[in-house]
Amino acid sequence: MSFHGLKMLYEGKAKKIFEKSKDEVVIYFKDDVTAFNGEKKDSISGKGKINKKISVFFFKILEEKGVPTQFIKDLDETSFVARKLDIIPLEVIVRNYTAGSFCKRYGVKKGIKLKEPIVEFSLKDDELGDPMICKNVILSLELVDGDILEKIEHYARKINEILTRLLSQSNIILVDFKLEFGVKDGNIYLADEISPDTCRFWDKNTMESLDKDVYREETGDLVERYSEFLRRIGL
Ligand code: C5P
Repeated sequence: MSFHGLKMLYEGKAKKIFEKSKDEVVIYFKDDVTAFNGEKKDSISGKGKINKKISVFFFKILEEKGVPTQFIKDLDETSFVARKLDIIPLEVIVRNYTAGSFCKRYGVKKGIKLKEPIVEFSLKDDELGDPMICKNVILSLELVDGDILEKIEHYARKINEILTRLLSQSNIILVDFKLEFGVKDGNIYLADEISPDTCRFWDKNTMESLDKDVYREETGDLVERYSEFLRRIGL
């Protein structure tokens, strides 16, 4: 597939990346949604548009607050222009409350506020099922340099503080989320997306999900929940 004549560099489960120039790419948000490492799969009309809008909103705020991001400029309803990066093969997960795989792994109840935020790492590898990886292994396998790893953790914690504060103004709890980072000319940038596909957002009063858990658990209409999130953050 090409996008206005641009060459596709990569297709993921929810996005396509096109080459715009030597230094720039176009990130296109698909309507496809998957869960459980691709075992559950659907196309939900309107999802791409919503996630693009939310990602752009968060990236702009983070950039303003001193987090370097991949975002360059908005393009259309389903895509934005971004820096071309070498993506670091790690998923960085930040948790404020217990949920999802954390509950399964440690046998704890969902919805407990953690004493302090946790930053976890997973190896980005679909075939291996994105296994959790600790900092020692990351450094020993030379997946990234120590200074880059420190910066990743620093930015992950900073992003958590900024977004937790921002969302609490809309009565939304930031439960947990996943980040990806990339490198260009030795500098690190926040990459990919921040959306209800990659975060857990709960209503502060009802603890109701405004995120992909409604699709994973079949407890609600995805577009209706994501649209409610949009409305709550004033978009
Ligand atoms: O599944 P788990 O509980 O580990 O997910 C933690 C957070 O990271 C959730 O918000 C989930 O949406 C996000 N995540 C993701 N992509 C993955 C794994 C987790 O966006 N491959």
